[in-house]
Amino acid sequence: MCGIVGYAGHHQAAPLLLDGLSKLEYRGYDSAGLCVQGENGFQVAKAKGRLQVLREQVHDGQDLIGTVGIGHTRWATHGAPSDVNSHPQVSDSGRIAVVHNGIIENDAALRADLLAKGVSFHSETDTEAVANLIGWYYEQCGDFVASVRQAVKRIRGSYALGILCEDNPGTIIAVKQDSPLIFGFGKGENFIASDVPAILKYTQTVAYLDDGDMAIFNNEYVTFLNAAGEPVAKQRETITWELAAAERGGYDHFMLKEIYEQPKALRATISPRLMGGRVVLDGLELSKEYLQSLKKIYLVACGSAYYVSVVAKYTIEKACRIPTEAMMASEFRYCDPVVNEHNLVIIISQSGETADTLAALREAKRRGARTLAIVNVVGSAIAKTADDVIYTWAGPEIAVATTKAFTTQLAVVYLLTLAMAEALGTMSQEDYTQVIQGLEKLPEQVESVLCEENVKKIDYVAKRYCDHHDAFYIGRNLDSAICLEGSLKLKEVAYLHSEAYPAGELKHGPISLIEDGTLVVCLATIRELFEKTTSNIKEVKARGADVVCITLEELEGPAEQVADSTIGIPAIHPMLQPTLALIPLQLLAYDVALNRGCDVDKPRNLAKSVTVE
Ligand code: AGP
Repeated sequence: MCGIVGYAGHHQAAPLLLDGLSKLEYRGYDSAGLCVQGENGFQVAKAKGRLQVLREQVHDGQDLIGTVGIGHTRWATHGAPSDVNSHPQVSDSGRIAVVHNGIIENDAALRADLLAKGVSFHSETDTEAVANLIGWYYEQCGDFVASVRQAVKRIRGSYALGILCEDNPGTIIAVKQDSPLIFGFGKGENFIASDVPAILKYTQTVAYLDDGDMAIFNNEYVTFLNAAGEPVAKQRETITWELAAAERGGYDHFMLKEIYEQPKALRATISPRLMGGRVVLDGLELSKEYLQSLKKIYLVACGSAYYVSVVAKYTIEKACRIPTEAMMASEFRYCDPVVNEHNLVIIISQSGETADTLAALREAKRRGARTLAIVNVVGSAIAKTADDVIYTWAGPEIAVATTKAFTTQLAVVYLLTLAMAEALGTMSQEDYTQVIQGLEKLPEQVESVLCEENVKKIDYVAKRYCDHHDAFYIGRNLDSAICLEGSLKLKEVAYLHSEAYPAGELKHGPISLIEDGTLVVCLATIRELFEKTTSNIKEVKARGADVVCITLEELEGPAEQVADSTIGIPAIHPMLQPTLALIPLQLLAYDVALNRGCDVDKPRNLAKSVTVE
């Protein structure tokens, strides 16, 4: 989604803003723009397309002179990607410039009102309504802060805003509601940004703005106001990771780097939570009485995080015997779910900012449920809103297609399952110990799946099948849940039509689509279901499909009898097997995307952090 950077300091703003925006490219965008406030007022440059287009237009920023400015990468919502719809949007009066992330829901009403007052509009964006609204109030009162406060009272929707006023050179106002915005403290310079990487080169000291917060700042001073307009002291946080963690570090793509970072991310997520052969979960209290009082556990998330929830449904129900349901956050909110104090609602999100997921979390709280968030980004809105939080320690995930966040979310699901099963006494000691031992060796098992032999095999398979038009991912039980994620990865980065089905379901309809050359990726990693799944492979082979089968190393021989290609993975405790099963699917999607010439880290139409509903 959109990215915002703002700077008030003693260096030239434009090169610094361009640099910051380049660190936000991962969020997904289709145009970019800058407004630098110089001696002669606003200098605005905007361009449709990649940041490079803007960079060339302004000669790496040298054309815009001034030490204060705001920059933006736009992911179009209201109006197509174009120069005129790019941000900053400048008010009709010419005195106010605004960059915005989010959606203004009452844009139409605001527009109509302002048009009636004689204000003109030049773009199709909802952001222009904000610029014009602030501009109109400013014309009435001549007070920058007061006009922003008045405008904000009338805006409905989600927003992070960076605002300049021509009559107040040197000052930036930032304000947010339901869209992320951080403030960076420097020496003789201050920053705002949508995410840490944009400013980490310049400062490691930040404050996370809360909803309703406003920051009014120049190069030296900042004042924070809360929604009521009262001054508040914001907690200063130190970012402990380094910029290198958010850079490609020799890999061709972030996605590949993050695939290979999974062993490290898993270790960081699992190790601190295993003590003396038991799971200890960040002080989380889940007593036997509480767990027994639960009528149902809900897992609520979007996209890949939802697929983690699907795996978790199988895992928690099997180990804890509590009815468990996985729901898409975008549906949860509006389906009047039967949710109350007898439910635990587990929210899963890498970014911690996904609008649908945040809204579902609020809805669950409103209905009286206890909420527990599994989140990667510290200080994010979901982490702050949930009753309890367990962090995945995956480090910054930059690639739009999630990999290490997914597998660390799964790791937390395993840990949580063990903790609940232990409290409830629903798992034998022997089984419990085996899962703990499995968790201890999971990172190195992932490493072994990433071995050269597998990489070569997957390269070969990707080359062979990259021109196919359709793919099906099939598997049973936990394998079917992982198929959902494998299939999504292929869609996202390789733009190849792909569907995931439980293998047993195929014959109830979708098998009619199997014909000569349809690619079928089959996960068959569950020993007890292996024969059933190989029967399904035979069914699709009989109809002309090309089949790639991912199975346990020990079952590769029989799999070779029925599939065109096989990839073997080591066996681990069945509860943990989904993690190992997913790794070849991540690599396959990556390789197919490369073979199809796709821009893996910036897949079309997608955004990393989806902060609009
Ligand atoms: C995964 O590859 C996707 N980019 C997407 O489905 C993502 O998982 C989803 O948007 C949820 O994001 P979140 O984990 O940040 O909430």
